[in-house]
Amino acid sequence: MRVPCAYQGGKQRVAAQIVDLLLDAAPGPNSRFYDLCCGSGAVSVELVNRGVDPNRIWMLDISSWGAFWSAIGSGTFDMDVFDQFLSVLPSDKRDFKAHMSALSTPPMGEHEAELYPVLQACSFGGKQIWRNGERWANACFRNYWEPTETSIRRSPANPMQPSPTELRRRIDALVNGMKGVTCLKMDIMTLLEEPFPSDAVVYVDPPYQSTTGYAFGFDVTSFINHFRHANQVPLFVSEGSPLNDDALMLTFGGAKGGISGIRKGKHQEWLSRF
Ligand SMILES: C[S@@+](CC[C@H](N)C(=O)[O-])C[C@H]1O[C@@H](n2cnc3c(N)ncnc32)[C@H](O)[C@@H]1O
Repeated sequence: MRVPCAYQGGKQRVAAQIVDLLLDAAPGPNSRFYDLCCGSGAVSVELVNRGVDPNRIWMLDISSWGAFWSAIGSGTFDMDVFDQFLSVLPSDKRDFKAHMSALSTPPMGEHEAELYPVLQACSFGGKQIWRNGERWANACFRNYWEPTETSIRRSPANPMQPSPTELRRRIDALVNGMKGVTCLKMDIMTLLEEPFPSDAVVYVDPPYQSTTGYAFGFDVTSFINHFRHANQVPLFVSEGSPLNDDALMLTFGGAKGGISGIRKGKHQEWLSRF
């Protein structure tokens, strides 16, 4: 299984390394995994790909990803409605941008879970599109782009990534494979009202301090302090820099990544363990 689409801050390239550490930290064969600020779900998907039963996974996101994963986990994602959105996509890629803009104008309709992955797959730069009451906010869509004689890129850029066929394939796999996860669409701070179960392993992926363009946020330091006051269970937090002495820098595979590829000022991924 793969995440539905690229997403700002998505962890698909480092999910395998994160999950190695979460599995190592699990106290027993039935321990529960919390993927907080789950977004496109890279970490939860990787957990299930590695054999963790979806019933042992709790996801949380306050955005429309929360609505999407709740529907997937509870088995209420309506594939017919989703197929309907796909079936009316324009045949000419040049018409996508206008079509998506029209789709995202109010009123929003009742199918947030099914519409959101279609919109997000067309989002400019994978930036977060979010629901603001009855309207979609930050809804900026890609245009179809073809190389010119002088452009460095030689292949056209599609307005929807992945393609509608691939998006459907991925979502169909998630409908079957991720059924059973629990997803809460709420503010992460409300989870602090009660202690986590003693067999929990908790992972948090907040919007990074330097990134812009997210609708939602919270004070990560305050979350960590409150969490540690009330809980003994392992906590892992992603950031673009280390948050404590027990932080690991994650590496991206391929030509651009690896220790030798780290340049000053280049994007970094750190996982801090508490
Ligand atoms: C860096 S992204 C997570 C990316 C994700 N791990 C993935 O692989 O796609 C941060 C997420 O935190 C969510 N978020 C921000 N503030 C939140 C809050 N106060 N409560 C719950 N979720 C929040 C955002 O909606 C966003 O999806």
